[in-house]
Amino acid sequence: MCGIVGYIGSRQAYPIIIKGLKRLEYRGYDSAGIALIDGDLKVYKKKGKVAELEEILIGKDLQGNVGIGHTRWATHGEPSDRNAHPHISNSNNLSMIHNGIIENYVQIKNELLKNGYSFSSDTDTEVLLNFIEDIKENNNSTLEEALRFALKRIVGAYCILLIDKDDPQTIIAARKGSPLVIGIGKNEHFLASDASPIIEYTKEVVYVNDYEIAIVRADELILKNLGNEKQTPFITKLDMELAAIEKSGYDHFMLKEIFEQPQTIYDCLRGRLDAEKGTITMSGIQQYAEQIINANRIIMIACGTSWHAGLVAEYIFEELCRIPVEVEYASEFRYRNPVINKGDVIIAISQSGETADTLVAIETAKEQGAIILGVLNVVGSSIARKSHAGAYTHAGPEIGVASTKAFTAQLAVLTMIALKIARAKNTIDEERYFLLCKELMEIPDKVALVLKQNDNVKALAEKYKNADDFLYLGRGYNFAVALEGALKLKEISYIHAEGYPAAEMKHGPIALVDENLPVVFVATKDSYHQKIVSNMQEIKARKGKVISIITEGDVVSPTLSDDVIILPTADEIVAPMLSVIPLQLLAYYIGIAKGYDVDKPRNLAKSVTVE
Ligand code: M6R
Repeated sequence: MCGIVGYIGSRQAYPIIIKGLKRLEYRGYDSAGIALIDGDLKVYKKKGKVAELEEILIGKDLQGNVGIGHTRWATHGEPSDRNAHPHISNSNNLSMIHNGIIENYVQIKNELLKNGYSFSSDTDTEVLLNFIEDIKENNNSTLEEALRFALKRIVGAYCILLIDKDDPQTIIAARKGSPLVIGIGKNEHFLASDASPIIEYTKEVVYVNDYEIAIVRADELILKNLGNEKQTPFITKLDMELAAIEKSGYDHFMLKEIFEQPQTIYDCLRGRLDAEKGTITMSGIQQYAEQIINANRIIMIACGTSWHAGLVAEYIFEELCRIPVEVEYASEFRYRNPVINKGDVIIAISQSGETADTLVAIETAKEQGAIILGVLNVVGSSIARKSHAGAYTHAGPEIGVASTKAFTAQLAVLTMIALKIARAKNTIDEERYFLLCKELMEIPDKVALVLKQNDNVKALAEKYKNADDFLYLGRGYNFAVALEGALKLKEISYIHAEGYPAAEMKHGPIALVDENLPVVFVATKDSYHQKIVSNMQEIKARKGKVISIITEGDVVSPTLSDDVIILPTADEIVAPMLSVIPLQLLAYYIGIAKGYDVDKPRNLAKSVTVE
């Protein structure tokens, strides 16, 4: 959460930073700010989105070859101008931006108040900044030394960029728990929370590790650990194109990402799955295949949409591999002292690879002897670096806050892993194995067919946009899809929505049903189809509005439905990659119809890097 950008070199820093902030805005958009040094230290900040900051900067002095910028998702202190970053130290010499949380800031603040410091915001960041300044002044130390000392004292997570009016040739950065990438140009450096603000200028980057401090000058990058020992920067070549982070003619990233799915799923399968030969090449998984086959259980750990992918995968793994699977919310798992046995296999699922709860959960499990496999989208992310092995989803940058293409790519990867393990374990017969490989390979084309329903879904959105509540029901593999559909609607259109296993309705929620309640049935043809048709009947009998997502050839469901969306036939194991698409579109078009900013829904941020 929060996006940070920095630049040092011979160009003007402002245009680079403001563009970078726009690219990182998905990480938080409660406020934005920028600090530049050009003789003087100039700090500008504003509540709201980056565009609002830009407006107030018209006509301002924006000169400077060194600068830092921040887009905020509020943790300490409400979204406001005064709580926006960058913050300025009491001497007016230092300025800092921060992504993370300082947990012991109250104690430090009290000490600083006793030393005569005053604060103009409610943030933990301003406390850390003045703490650094206090150490520097009292010990007559350099800024770097003071920072190192301060970081040893604080508890929490951080990625910070720090500048000093008296040393305009340097940006000092540090990270623990929150990401930091440094782009290496010709006599210039770019710093950011992820590579998207950097790729336009250079493809050579260094991913800074936890507990490292970077001293960044135009022509020099020095990395040190907290013990003041120099570290060798490991330069990585970015495998990302600028077009991947632009809207390419779509109105919103969310729509672009929904429509990219035939390609992203294909990219995820390409080079791995050969349906004709029946081979699945995944070197990271292969490396740990024995341990997975012999595992007493697999634990999927994730949050939000990624958790829903884990839930679909639970059904797939248990069915195909006959290994017990538990699906855990990372935030619950990490705090409840779970029983982890040596040899347990943990699959961490995360688009960003930066979700704080997931990261800490796997660290805890790793310490206790578990094998950690990552199913991740962002290459080089923190979870990727903490995992023993895994498989990337190759969905490309996902910028819309609502996760769409990452979900289907996660399902594609998880299905391939399950198939690979099932075959090696002999828990699937060859005929079914080959059939499922073929079914999986056909998914990109079938998703393209589902997307042709775009206008039908748009019409549905218009029809139901004023509903106050929605129910989403599914069974089996489609149960998690129902949860995902409800989550999409909540976050994009702010309509209350519940996802439920269809059969559970009778145990309470059916009391909600009346003629005003739209009930979305995810009812593609599967082993439970007859059962869900009965559930449809129960809703119809109570005058609920039934919208059903069904498979072509289903003649019964339309007779019970007010509206239907028809999907191509697919095996039930791969069907969630199809059935989720209309639900993504429905949420998108209802959000649009209600006039909301679907790429940046209120109160949310793309990467949840605080617990
Ligand atoms: O980056 P991750 O996959 O770890 O993120 C997990 C959730 O924060 C994420 O899926 C969130 O629920 C999305 N906004 C849902 O659309």
